Amino acid sequence: MTTKLKAALAALLIAGSGALVTETAAAAPATTLQELVPQPAQLQPRPEITFTLTATAKIQLSTPDARQPAELLAGILRPSTGYALPITDTVQGDGIVLTSGADPKTGPEGYQLDVTPKQVVIRANTPAGHFNAVQTLRQLLPAKAEAKTKQQGPWQVPGASILDHPRYHHRGAMLDVSRHFFTPDQVKRYIDQIAAFKINYFHLHLSDDQGWRLEIKSWPELTKIGGSTEVGGRTGKLFYTQDQYKDLVAYAAARGITTIPEFDVPGHTNAAQASYAELNCDGKKRPLYTGTEVGFSSLCINKEITYKFVEDVIREVAAITPGPYLHIGGDEALSTPDADYQTFMNRALPLVKKYGKTTVGWHEFVKTTKDTSTIPQFWGTTTTDENVAAAAKRGNKVLMSPANRIYLDMKYDKNTKLGLDWAGLVEVKDSYSWNPGAYLKGVAEQNVRGVEAPLWTETIKTSQDIEYMAFPRLPVAAELGWAQASVHNWDRFAPRLGAQAPRWKVQGIGFYASPQVPWKK
Ligand code: ACM
Repeated sequence: MTTKLKAALAALLIAGSGALVTETAAAAPATTLQELVPQPAQLQPRPEITFTLTATAKIQLSTPDARQPAELLAGILRPSTGYALPITDTVQGDGIVLTSGADPKTGPEGYQLDVTPKQVVIRANTPAGHFNAVQTLRQLLPAKAEAKTKQQGPWQVPGASILDHPRYHHRGAMLDVSRHFFTPDQVKRYIDQIAAFKINYFHLHLSDDQGWRLEIKSWPELTKIGGSTEVGGRTGKLFYTQDQYKDLVAYAAARGITTIPEFDVPGHTNAAQASYAELNCDGKKRPLYTGTEVGFSSLCINKEITYKFVEDVIREVAAITPGPYLHIGGDEALSTPDADYQTFMNRALPLVKKYGKTTVGWHEFVKTTKDTSTIPQFWGTTTTDENVAAAAKRGNKVLMSPANRIYLDMKYDKNTKLGLDWAGLVEVKDSYSWNPGAYLKGVAEQNVRGVEAPLWTETIKTSQDIEYMAFPRLPVAAELGWAQASVHNWDRFAPRLGAQAPRWKVQGIGFYASPQVPWKK
């Protein structure tokens, strides 16, 4: 066909019947530019350009920063495309280029992504920037690029120039592995899912009344006894060895994610108190607990052994945690009198520092310290908290996890079978319709460190359960944490969120198909 004839036919198709137009649409590159979650800071469509990934394409690096991100991308695209996609240290020919020299506007986590006819060129100045760019590129490819088995191409990327960077540095997800235990493979599956939305912190809630989930070599009964059961009474070796934990931390790091381990003290400690008699004021072991009440346990504040225990745990965990943060819980210490709570934190907080880490804690703890380097995580259901506002005024940066907005374990509506409802019913639009930088009185944009979506697991037992509660609200949290405040608009966001459905189907994610969202077929 001559070029002239082709142009005439194309014009006819566009002007023609619905069926013909549909055919053109099917042959055209995916309209994925309107489908990115989170929304990039700047996106310029280049409709005249389409890149097609071919069998001879190479993933080309010119910076060691891009090595792990390139390996991650290759690991996703090789099975679905069936292409070799070798990673090379020379930039030449067709393929995906990962290089340095990004516009300084991209900052420490941003990137530029330019689609040209022969290459997708990613520029970033840090590994984090390359990881984030790779996640965008995944969403620009057809959904079946996520498949674990070979699929039919073409593997087209629509023409665009993107310059992107996050609103907040901290975009987090928490998994409670204490109420119900999840195997390392289940945890890795969730890490893969959060990474896809540019989540860069993974908070592991490793101890609670129902279970102690990480081997502590100097206190072996913690896992032997305290890690032997969970909510509902299942028994087994329900804990991670230190080697398994190190492997999880490395797995997350290979996806650009820093792990934050949490040991919840001085309350939520029944599993420890069931493991060691000396951690109780009366010197008697507590029975193991498999229910779902909170607030009944406390370490013994006036016994010296309590602080040896806390120090041993912090020392061992700090030694196997490369990230700079340790989370010490501190929430719902309803069985610890206020004066004792203060005494406890006066001893515990310096221990985190002693082992080179920065404290994160549920926001209650922040009333006990003037240290502005500590990070209060707000989990309340109100929009005022005097102690958090005072901390923000002193200079602490607040991590926002308001329970009635972004707790992934809250039921969507009254018919949701899983989950709890103590903070309310949280439909998808509720989880989106708040501004982290103007939510808590006295906590303004510059006082906010970021957004974390916690998933508590009193009712959550399987990966399917995790995914039903996290999808689609986890991507909502990612959008709130990453996208610029100026693009916050439900009517524009809902179709972008709905456009993720085909991808989640390919990935085997059984999401909640909220009637509020126009799901793409
Ligand atoms: C919490 O939900 N108790 C932090």
